[in-house]
Amino acid sequence: MSVGGGYDEYAFVADLYDHVGPYRSRPDVAFFLSEAVNAGSPVVELGCGTGRVLIPIARAGVDIVGVDLSSRMLNICRDRLRHEPEPVQSRVRLVQADMRQFDINQRFTLATIPFRPFQHLLTVDDQLACLAAVRRHLVDGGRLILDIFNPSLDALVYGPVGEEHGEEAEFSMPDGRRVVRRQKTIAANRFTQVNDFELIYYVTHPDGREERLVHAFSLRYLFRFEAEHLLVRSGFEVEQVYAAYDKSPYGSMYPGELIFVARTAL
Ligand SMILES: C[S@@+](CC[C@H](N)C(=O)[O-])C[C@H]1O[C@@H](n2cnc3c(N)ncnc32)[C@H](O)[C@@H]1O
Repeated sequence: MSVGGGYDEYAFVADLYDHVGPYRSRPDVAFFLSEAVNAGSPVVELGCGTGRVLIPIARAGVDIVGVDLSSRMLNICRDRLRHEPEPVQSRVRLVQADMRQFDINQRFTLATIPFRPFQHLLTVDDQLACLAAVRRHLVDGGRLILDIFNPSLDALVYGPVGEEHGEEAEFSMPDGRRVVRRQKTIAANRFTQVNDFELIYYVTHPDGREERLVHAFSLRYLFRFEAEHLLVRSGFEVEQVYAAYDKSPYGSMYPGELIFVARTAL
């Protein structure tokens, strides 16, 4: 399975992304916005996608560079930016690059990786390459916010493999398509910690035609102390570990998220 999560291979993913219910209601935007405002310009967001988090930050007056590997996701972000006032547009720069080896001639107060793009890096070498690239782009004392999920041991042991499931409500597209999304774990590899998934979109077109679209991708899960060790190996001090975007501390809920705030070590 290739790196990148399939956001360019499957054209429909970028098209549908901003309309998916759980993405529209994801409760992380206020958290990243307040961290970006506190850090001040300039901020870099890795795996910025369609600008779901990036655009609210630019609206709040922060200069932000968005890095993403997928031209399709960046094109949606560019389209959205065209509808923003000029001052907001002027605060954003988009760069198509791989977060493992990006090279922007600028240093940042804050780097963020919202909503798990880091988990599309499937080997330790790739993870370390990404963290080294982030470290090179931060000012002294600059911070990284690394946002991944806390793997549920129950789900890892008992989660269904090979079965399609899900309960998300249908959503609608502006052109009248109606879409129901389901998911399937294709393979769970306990040695590499890489699981293969499918997100399956059942699309009904306004003329009644039906389609089944499959987005296949892999994610590597990381445990709390594994991620901390990676951060420390890469020249960071971990300041906070949150379990949710309201800053509930790690350990206050299970499984919750794994949100690290890490500062460049001296
Ligand atoms: C789940 S989306 C998250 C998008 C955005 N951060 C958000 O919160 O809506 C994952 C994004 O990571 C990007 N991505 C995956 N691997 C990448 C890599 N190696 N370098 C840069 N971007 C990558 C994908 O193209 C996709 O836009």
